[in-house]
Amino acid sequence: MPGLLTAAGISRDRIERLVEAARDYRDGRGRRHPEALVGLVFFEDSLRTRVGFDAAAVRLRASTTTLLATKKTPAMGFPETLDDTVRSVGSWCDALCLRHPDADAVARAASLTTTPVINCGNGRDEHPTQALVDLFAIAEILGRVDGLRVGLVGDLDGMRAAHSLALVLSRFHELEVRCISPAGLGLPPRFTQALRDGGHRVAEVDALDVRDLDVLYVAGLPAPTRVGVLTPDQQARYRVTRAVAEQLPPHARILCPLPRLDEIATEVDELPQASYFRQSELAITMRMAILDEALGASCA
Ligand code: CP
Repeated sequence: MPGLLTAAGISRDRIERLVEAARDYRDGRGRRHPEALVGLVFFEDSLRTRVGFDAAAVRLRASTTTLLATKKTPAMGFPETLDDTVRSVGSWCDALCLRHPDADAVARAASLTTTPVINCGNGRDEHPTQALVDLFAIAEILGRVDGLRVGLVGDLDGMRAAHSLALVLSRFHELEVRCISPAGLGLPPRFTQALRDGGHRVAEVDALDVRDLDVLYVAGLPAPTRVGVLTPDQQARYRVTRAVAEQLPPHARILCPLPRLDEIATEVDELPQASYFRQSELAITMRMAILDEALGASCA
């Protein structure tokens, strides 16, 4: 189990081992890695994932080294290739957390180094570590995953965290998954198919009806700078306002991988259903578990 490149094919046993390890870390137990060095190589901006893995490594008593982009301006010299970057940094580290705008970059990186590569987001394809954080938050906050009614709302075509979450959820039992998105921005067929293959009921709708959900997962909408994708009126139809949130059952929880633009109104933050900051808080112990798994393979 050399790294974490995709949530496709991840087994329920592996997910449950990671959840158990995350719970151990939450409770102050779990293995530490004082000799390990974790490389954080991010070719795209990141707050939660980069700083989160940095913090998780420190909590594991590991060290980190960070590269935010390769040399790419004339003043900084010639551009460095992904291949050479990974060969170099990979040879110095015990695990490599990599984010890259190209979908095929993490698989390419993993083919160039024996160091475990952890996919921290590859283009519009996947974000498996975020999906494990989300899964852990659902398990911790709702107390279970099987049998839940989960709504995924937003640009499900482009939001990679929603893709990986669908793959992770496909490993659980008897879920009802409502994919709520504007026309043309629905969850790609390979992810809806994974859910259906897992025996789940999947509905694809364009109306933001949340009244019977247990979890509302707000994946995000295209940035306003992506002109022509959605009009302001269309964006507004998928915004989680206080009025929308108050339609949820009292026990339901709103999750979001963050960052948010305005897909969740700040007035929602004070409602009991708003759980995205708790989700963010829980993320560190799942990231510790993911690093522990990779370092266990690499440093054994
Ligand atoms: N959720 C997430 O991936 O956030 P960052 O882009 O800040 O890492």
